[in-house]
Amino acid sequence: MDVLIGCASTGSHLSGTAKYMKSRKPGVHVIGVEPEGSVVFGGTYKPFLQNGTGLSFRPGNLLESYIDEIIKVSDHDAFATCRRLARTEGLLLGGSSGSVLHVAALIAHRMRRPCNIAVILPDNGMKYLDTIYDDQWLRKHGLHGAIAGEDAVMTGDRPATRRVPLAEVELPVGELQ
Ligand SMILES: Cc1ncc(COP(=O)(O)O)c(C=O)c1O
Repeated sequence: MDVLIGCASTGSHLSGTAKYMKSRKPGVHVIGVEPEGSVVFGGTYKPFLQNGTGLSFRPGNLLESYIDEIIKVSDHDAFATCRRLARTEGLLLGGSSGSVLHVAALIAHRMRRPCNIAVILPDNGMKYLDTIYDDQWLRKHGLHGAIAGEDAVMTGDRPATRRVPLAEVELPVGELQ
């Protein structure tokens, strides 16, 4: 494994997994993902629609020293990824999983050499049939574009995702915007 990608709310599962993986392979590059508007890794709070992931305050049990990079993902990109994967791969996933896979696609898209990316997908989509998988709900929240499943990786026209490096590391991937 070269890259580990996981989302964070309390930061517990990502911190524990990252700590273990780095004990086995110190060079593994760990990417923490949170919704735009969440302040787990810092920033200014604003409401977001992704469930399970993200917080309005900084959690006490986050082990930041094991996380090399953070990426904030918009509701649009998380949900568009869910919708696309349901349609093209038959995967019914929750929004936090969508945000993680959006980042995985972003990283894969900009890689300089082949590498192995592991992702942690916290839940499936059964709880979200009347939200993420409901066109009317998406429209009500101004997320019309997510219905078609086009995220910023596909359209390439909207820097909805930001890269915020926590440490100087040897990246196996190309520079992100
Ligand atoms: C669907 C989902 N995504 C992400 C998370 C975030 O996990 P953690 O609190 O370990 O950061 C949770 C936690 O319950 C969750 O239920």
